Amino acid sequence: MKIGVPIEIKNNENRVGMTPSGVFELTKRNHAVYVQKDAGFNSGFFDEDYIKAGASILNTIEEVYEAADMIVKVKEPIEKEYTLIKPHHTVFTYFHFASSEPLTKAMVDSKAVCIAYETVEAEDGSLPLLIPMSEVAGRMSIQQGAKYLEKPIKGRGILLGGVPGVPPAKVLVLGAGVVGYQAAKMAAGLGAYVIIMDINMKALRYVSDSMPNNVISEFSSEYNIRKHIKDADLIIGGVLIKGAKAPKLITKDMLKDMRPGTVIVDVAVDQGGCFETTKPTTHEEPTYIIDDVVHYSVANMPGAVPYTSTMALTNVTLPYVIKLAEEGWEKACESSTALAKGLNVVNGKIVYKEIAEAFNLEFEMA
Ligand SMILES: NC(=O)c1ccc[n+]([C@@H]2O[C@H](COP(=O)([O-])OP(=O)(O)OC[C@H]3O[C@@H](n4cnc5c(N)ncnc54)[C@H](O)[C@@H]3O)[C@@H](O)[C@H]2O)c1
Repeated sequence: MKIGVPIEIKNNENRVGMTPSGVFELTKRNHAVYVQKDAGFNSGFFDEDYIKAGASILNTIEEVYEAADMIVKVKEPIEKEYTLIKPHHTVFTYFHFASSEPLTKAMVDSKAVCIAYETVEAEDGSLPLLIPMSEVAGRMSIQQGAKYLEKPIKGRGILLGGVPGVPPAKVLVLGAGVVGYQAAKMAAGLGAYVIIMDINMKALRYVSDSMPNNVISEFSSEYNIRKHIKDADLIIGGVLIKGAKAPKLITKDMLKDMRPGTVIVDVAVDQGGCFETTKPTTHEEPTYIIDDVVHYSVANMPGAVPYTSTMALTNVTLPYVIKLAEEGWEKACESSTALAKGLNVVNGKIVYKEIAEAFNLEFEMA
């Protein structure tokens, strides 16, 4: 198969859909890989590395789309890319269709096959192509939180781990799923005092069994949250209710109970956020302040650490890319229920019920 890897042109997206190592796995199976010039540059992968792995480098995005049958990328196509996608293409990337009607309609009109990373689903209901990005965002939330706690950037001026003779900071983590667990682990590693909350007892038991002593698990309730926000220095929002908007666990009135310079990081911003005062921000301007509380709510946190994120993402996408290249989308989706769940739009039809419902459009079984 002919596989194309274009440069990501969405604002501030520095990841790339395939590493040289992925290219090597495909070319050794006799597939042709066309990588756009400098596509991997911001992730630390250079054209020479791709060439050594067997790829051909093409100068423009138009050439990549023209040469390829399957496009492997990271973010959903933006308007400029809509017309590049043709009926013979299989496009394998994050789409997040339910949040964009224009994108959905454009992909229906393109008549291409769109397989969305975010809906590829393993038998146990987990989402294997989302997990690595939650791992990155969870770990990064503490790194960012620690930075914004510094006084020159309006934080409380507290070091997460304290020093001998001075107590560490208190970190409250809401949600003990992938994001929350990784956040708690990082905060604990830096020596902070960590409270992690969830409503899922299985998740809390796992935390309790596996985390060091400076991590305390507690059932999530408004009462408990109100109790801890009064003296928390850093609060991480990592809750998710599948298929629904995030619950508003911290309301605007609660900000007044927090100390000035408290930092709140809402990782769940992409699902509407779990703090009432959350609004999406970008890496260019990641924070804003309301009632003296520093809000950080960047919707694509992994984009800031493209080297780690690209490798984490492509580690999990590559087996599916190989399967699609070897078998073609129809056979591959027949033999893999996980991949079949990734089918969102096929030859002009929406085949994922929730997406059709989101925009009152016609749904058809794949
Ligand atoms: N901003 C970013 O760049 C970025 C990156 C990756 C993931 N995310 C988002 O982070 C969020 C969390 O992702 P995840 O992979 O950790 O999900 P997950 O499903 O692994 O974990 C979510 C957890 O929230 C818990 N929860 C639900 N209601 C709760 C409540 N009322 N109180 C406490 N806990 C509650 C669930 O029981 C679950 O354990 C998602 O919205 C995801 O899209 C954002």
